[in-house]
Amino acid sequence: MTETAISIRNVTQRFGDANQANAVLALDDVSLDIKKGEFVCLLGPSGCGKSTLLNIVGGLFKPTQGTCTVDGRLVDGEPHPDKIAFVFQESTLFPWYTVIENFHIALKFQGIAKSEWDDRAMAALRAVGMASFARHYPEQLSVGMRQRVNMARGICVGTDILLMDEPFAALDEQTRMVLGEDLSQLLAATGKTIVFVTHSLAEAVFLSDRIAVMTARPGKIKTIIDVNEPHPRSPDFMLEPRFSELRNECYALLRDEIRATVAAQRDPQPAGA
Ligand SMILES: Nc1ncnc2c1ncn2[C@@H]1O[C@H](COP(=O)(O)OP(=O)(O)OP(=O)(O)O)[C@@H](O)[C@H]1O
Ligand SMILES: [Mg+2]
Repeated sequence: MTETAISIRNVTQRFGDANQANAVLALDDVSLDIKKGEFVCLLGPSGCGKSTLLNIVGGLFKPTQGTCTVDGRLVDGEPHPDKIAFVFQESTLFPWYTVIENFHIALKFQGIAKSEWDDRAMAALRAVGMASFARHYPEQLSVGMRQRVNMARGICVGTDILLMDEPFAALDEQTRMVLGEDLSQLLAATGKTIVFVTHSLAEAVFLSDRIAVMTARPGKIKTIIDVNEPHPRSPDFMLEPRFSELRNECYALLRDEIRATVAAQRDPQPAGA
């Protein structure tokens, strides 16, 4: 039996006082088990609580109700940098350090011995084809290259779990497809557990072992879709009829949720309109 890496149990997240007009119920009774080495995508309309759920798993805050455990250890608003690394949409590289110095800082923070820093950093940079840019500063790289470095840094710190919040959202479609292929390769090579947030249906199908489709806010898990395809995935997978079928299935599940979200974000319709 495959071991569970992350167990989310009956998680509810409320922001603000329930009696206040601006109180928000972001997540409502969400339960999800993620196996070791699994790639799970959270797909759902804007504001349905995807980032909130990721932040709870990462220990950035404690849920209003429910629990989250990582490797059997309760994550209760306590980050576990030895187990979990984050990769965000915006590259979080320090602009005044070179690429490799940025890796050194992350590895130092992780408590990795200095003698290992260069080898680990260069191995991760090679894996994403960026080794020759190790001495460049972030501003000397394109947005796509920066995000590739950002992803490699998340991987090189050696945590078993990687939480990725729309890491490719700022990139053009072609670049994100190539980075998706890189990520699938890295997943196959490292066996990491990845929870990935995206708005791209194609990206979700291309990368995931399972896709958790969420409802409009308050976010619940609407359905889980299995994608039975081994990693590393080839771009040919996107040409298979099964790929389009899965993508369409995701869209059919999401359409009503997106409509509900858009309706809730509009001014109320005047009576008789
Ligand atoms: N710290 C906070 N304080 C108050 N409300 C918050 C806070 N963080 C999130 N929210 C609210 O909780 C809801 C869920 O937000 P969240 O950022 O998790 O959504 P999301 O699914 O990641 O959206 P997007 O796809 O736009 O990134 C939103 O209504 C948001 O305004
Ligand atoms: Mg978000």
